[in-house]
Amino acid sequence: MSTWIEQAERVIRRCAELARITDEPGHITRTFLSPATREAHACLRRWMEELGMAVRLDSAGNLRGVHAGAQPGAPTLYLGSHIDTVPHAGAFDGVLGVVLALALVEALDGRRLQFAVEVVAFSEEEGVRFGVPFIGSRALAGTVDADLLDRRDASGKTVTDAIREFGLDPERLPEAAGDGALGYLEFHIEQGPVLEALHLPLGVVESIVGQSRFEVLFEGQANHAGTTPAQHRRDALAGAAEWIGRVEREACATADLRATVGSLDVQPGASNVIAGCVRATLDVRHASDDIRRQAVASMLDAAAQIGERRGLAVRWEPRLNQPATPMHRSLLAALDRAVSREGFPVHRMTSGAGHDAMVMAQKCPSAMLFLRSPGGISHHPDETVVLGDVAAALSVGMAFLEELEARRA
Ligand code: HGY
Ligand code: MN
Ligand code: MN
Repeated sequence: MSTWIEQAERVIRRCAELARITDEPGHITRTFLSPATREAHACLRRWMEELGMAVRLDSAGNLRGVHAGAQPGAPTLYLGSHIDTVPHAGAFDGVLGVVLALALVEALDGRRLQFAVEVVAFSEEEGVRFGVPFIGSRALAGTVDADLLDRRDASGKTVTDAIREFGLDPERLPEAAGDGALGYLEFHIEQGPVLEALHLPLGVVESIVGQSRFEVLFEGQANHAGTTPAQHRRDALAGAAEWIGRVEREACATADLRATVGSLDVQPGASNVIAGCVRATLDVRHASDDIRRQAVASMLDAAAQIGERRGLAVRWEPRLNQPATPMHRSLLAALDRAVSREGFPVHRMTSGAGHDAMVMAQKCPSAMLFLRSPGGISHHPDETVVLGDVAAALSVGMAFLEELEARRA
């Protein structure tokens, strides 16, 4: 039986192997049901089948491996995370949670528990291809709707088209909804500086901040850069730039508010043409839904005022309104006990990043265990983990399974 450190070394090697599976050579980029996703599925399926797990790919592209319980019809503990990435990502965001869960199943060494363990590689959490996140976990939670399925990507394809093109049947999406869930546990890197600053390997996530995402459109008039005097300009990019400054000032003035304009699409996008149209994304997060909603209202109001003054047409479309999500008390207690039983300090914390656990929490008791992010960096190729922290998460994960098993004995 290999030690937790040896298991952790293999977890890190496997994350590196998955990181080499990409839609963008030279970078780590895997989006919803892309060619790289198919290759990643083949790799994960092999690892699952080597463990004797029953493997299926559901209609949302979630790859799911089941380690059956001792009795038929036993409830299911879901362990998992996402395998899609942001563009130019790091090697651990999402995939660590899937690979670490498979290492736990391996460590069971064939032992059957009072519950089944289902490891889920969610197909889409980041929202890169269609602008809305959580497609995979929403399918398992049974919360996919027509609005989501009709979303179009940059090429004009809908989510339904993408599912069909991947060889899956969108009509069978309802079958992706899990039943008899005992709970959900997600291992994930913290993606921030907190655990490192506290010199802690692990964090127990108490709640996940609420998240609003919008697409904001500034429409002015394209014109000649050399001949158009300032007072005749309706410059969409200058308007958007002024607004982005207002967003940043509001975020800096409100404690614990995070607001980000992460992408701009500028048209026509030539150096000698005044921008006629700018499509900007807005991402606003806070632990308090009231504070988040007030901040969003104020930022969108600022966009309208700037548009008014500059003669720009400004409108916006919501992409996500995800309430702050508390993790489940009883799973938190089991996780606390597992952490302290393995000799690690219990540190409860809030997640500033969104996770599939927010969606799974609408379906079943959910919890998350964070691993320290060296340098506090993520959504970046320098994202990494500490070997000892991965070993700690494995030992705590096994202790957590024992806690749940003891409750059901
Ligand atoms: O955006 C997030 O918080 C997560 O990384 N999807
Ligand atoms: Mn992410
Ligand atoms: Mn993630």
